[in-house]
Parts: sequence; C-alpha cells; structure tokens
Amino acid sequence: MNKIRKFYIETYGCQMNVSDSEIVISILIKENFKITFNFEDADLIFINTCSIREKAEQTIKKRLQKFNLLKKKKPNLIIGILGCMAKRLKEKFLEEEKLINLVIGPDSYRDIPNLISSVEDGKNAVNTILSRDETYADINPVHFENKITAFITIMRGCDNMCSFCIVPFTRGRERSRDPDTIIKECQLLYNKGYREITLLGQNVDSYIWYNGSGIKRDIYKMPNINYNNLIDFAKLIELIAISVPNMRIRFSTSNPHDMSKKVLTIIKKYPNICKNIHLPVQSGSTRILKKMNRKYSREEYIYLIDQIRNIIPECSISHDIITGFCGETEQDHNDTLSLMEYVKYDYGYMFIYSVRPGTIAEKHFKDDVTMDIKKRRLKEIINLQKKHSYFRMQQSIGKIQEVLIEKVSKKDKNYWSGRNSQNVTVVFPKQNSKIGTFVNVKIHNIISSTLIGKII
Ligand code: 5AD
Ligand code: SF4
Repeated sequence: MNKIRKFYIETYGCQMNVSDSEIVISILIKENFKITFNFEDADLIFINTCSIREKAEQTIKKRLQKFNLLKKKKPNLIIGILGCMAKRLKEKFLEEEKLINLVIGPDSYRDIPNLISSVEDGKNAVNTILSRDETYADINPVHFENKITAFITIMRGCDNMCSFCIVPFTRGRERSRDPDTIIKECQLLYNKGYREITLLGQNVDSYIWYNGSGIKRDIYKMPNINYNNLIDFAKLIELIAISVPNMRIRFSTSNPHDMSKKVLTIIKKYPNICKNIHLPVQSGSTRILKKMNRKYSREEYIYLIDQIRNIIPECSISHDIITGFCGETEQDHNDTLSLMEYVKYDYGYMFIYSVRPGTIAEKHFKDDVTMDIKKRRLKEIINLQKKHSYFRMQQSIGKIQEVLIEKVSKKDKNYWSGRNSQNVTVVFPKQNSKIGTFVNVKIHNIISSTLIGKII
C-alpha cells in the first residue's frame, strides 16, 4: 500500500473556495496527512476549481498540464479535482484527463479519506453528489491566509437561479449553517487572536435557521412558526456582533433582492460590523435584469441604495457588473453607466459575459454581443469605476479612520498595511504599533487604489 503523507492544495475562484480549501485541509490533517506548500514535494495534489467563467476553467486546465508533467515523473502521485469544475465536468475529467484520479464536488469533502483509499486500491474515484443539508458545521477549518482575518461560511448553495450563473448547478440548493456553530467558531478565532471575520455565502441575506433546520423551504412548511425564535441574517449578525464585540465583522455576498432594512439598521447599530456592502447589480437596465432573472428592477435597486445612504451614510458600496449579456443594446449599456454615475460605487468587479453550459441563458438566449463590443463596453465601465473610486477615496482625505493592521506593506517594510471599515487598503508608517491591533489613522494621500496615512 502507498504511504501518502504530503498534500498540496491550490485554490481558484471565490472566497468560498478559499474557505472550502480550509475545510479540506482540516479533514486531511485529521487523517494524518501533512500539508506542503511545494507541489513537487507532494504525494497528493488537489486543485479547488472555479466554473464561474470560461476563462477560469481554461486557466485551471492549463495548470493541470503542469501537474500532469510531474505525474509522468512520479507515477504514484495522486491528482484530485475539487469544487465547481469537478461537479460540472464529473467523469469527463477522468475520461479526458487520464492523469486525474479523484473528482470531488463541493458537498463531498467528508468523503475524501474514503475516496483516497479507493485510489490507493487502484481505482479512480468520483463523488460529486450535491447534498440538501451539508454545511460542514462541525468542522473547524484550518486557516492559513494569516492570523488576523478569517472567512467563515454561514450558508452554502444558491436558490436564486440567475440565468447567467452556473453556481446553482455546481453548488446546489441553499442551506444555512447552525448559528451556534458559527458563533463558537467566531469565539474560537477571537481567542486565537483573529480580529476580523468575513461571513460567507452565495446569498447571505437569505440566511435562515429555525427549529434545528437551515433549509428555507422546509421551515416555511412548519406549522405555527414562532418568529421570535427564527434567526434570519439580521439576527445572526447581531448575535455575532454581541458575542465577539472586539471582532470586526464583514459579510459577502448580498443579493439586492434579499437585503432587508433590518440588516441595514443592525449594521448601523454595531460599531464592530463593517460599513461596507457588496451589492452586485449586474446591469443597470431593467430589461436586462429581467432576462438575468435578478428579481429586482433598476428603480428597486436605486431605492435600496438610497436606503443604505440614509441609514448608514458612511457605508461604502461595491458591485459586480456583467457586460455584454445576451441582447444587451447600447441603451442597456448606457443604463448601466448612468446607474454607476448615480451610485458612484467605491469599487467593483467587472466581467464580460461568458456563456455557461446548462444555464438558463445558454438554453434560451443568444450570446449575440460581439467580443469587440463587449471589450469596448467593459473598458468604459472600468474607466468610469476608476473615476468613482478616486472620487470616493478623496472623500477620505483629512479624515481619521480606524484601521486593523494586517501585514507589512509590500512596497516598504517600514509601513503597515490594513483596511478601514469601508474595506479600502490603508498604508502608514509603523511607529510603535503591532499587527492585529486597531489604530486610528489620519489619511493624507492616495496612491492608485490605496490610502496613505499616519497613526494619530
Ligand atoms: N459570465 C460573466 N460573469 C459572471 N458572473 C457570474 N456568472 C457569470 C458569467 N456567466 C459574475 C457575476 C457574479 C460574480 C461572482 O461573477 O457578476 O456576481
Ligand atoms: Fe449565481 Fe445569482 Fe446565486 Fe449569485 S445569486 S450565486 S449570481 S445564481
């Protein structure tokens, strides 16, 4: 029998994948595997993959070629594909990529030790079954990023079915995690020295827990619901804010359709909840939003923005925008630009639409915007965002902001780097301060997308 000891894991895609890799690491370490950060040293290589756009998949396929070269030299090396691509492509991987041994979907990580045993017995192994209720609630992930900030997954899957999106197919139905396990994990992290957590979910505002269940469609079928005992997202962040009062709390991602006024009032009420909302709009045109199945109009989105500005004036707002979706006209594109002009987002993530096999959009609409037009529109959106980011950052100049010190600045070892509540990076001379502490910094300059300041 092979004696596998060292594993290497590489993670692509979203924060949720980073968090999932930490769960996988925790499971493997419990089984006496050792982590290595050098893939040439490993007996087992895992790639945690992303399917959100075609480009992400191509990057991963290229990377696989590199690992396959190593496998030719080291025939006993086990290569495993985890995550969204594993779910999407399943056996195809084993058929086409002869050097892959393991294909494991996002809900099957508990099965990894068994699957490795199968490979040791000479069989390739696949498990991409999606679960109704898996949340890995009892697994304490091993955090490797740094010792100050950590991700905590509070829900998995998505029921929204945006027409362009592969996530509901790769990650399955929505389910929320037991709040007690979330709060315990927050406290544990605080005791270990962590000072900022980011609560993760594809759609955090849809979080729900009642009477031992985190599945919305089951909860709504329960008789005589006592709403005082129901924990929604607003209640959850309030419970966390109270139980770890010196821990900063962030969350991502919010779907505008599910965000409530109650959540905004809780963000306002607790100083340890960061004043930043990531609120993907995807398009500024109601016609396109309808085709995207986003379940809100331009006007409803603007109403929500106005509410945020009224309740939490200091809140930063960020976005995701997709350009060149099926049938997008110049007018639709201009609607996106004018919406951006209205909101003046602090920052954002902008993408060219990429057809995803099996999605509603792939089945029902034509990807009819040419690549040249997509690229030109993307450029216009990015340029406008740059202008708005600069505008927002300028508003910080002269202000005193609380910054959590995270690391040494890459550009100058005499400077610290951290973020303010609004999630903007701030760099400043170290003076006598320490990593993991909060300091008040007076902002006096901007260099590209970073604020420069001095501790006061
Ligand atoms: N093409 C381009 N961008 C996409 N996103 C999701 N699916 C696609 C797609 N098919 C973007 C959305 C989402 C972010 C995570 O990725 O903007 O909010
Ligand atoms: Fe995809 Fe929409 Fe769910 Fe986000 S909310 S993961 S874009 S389906």
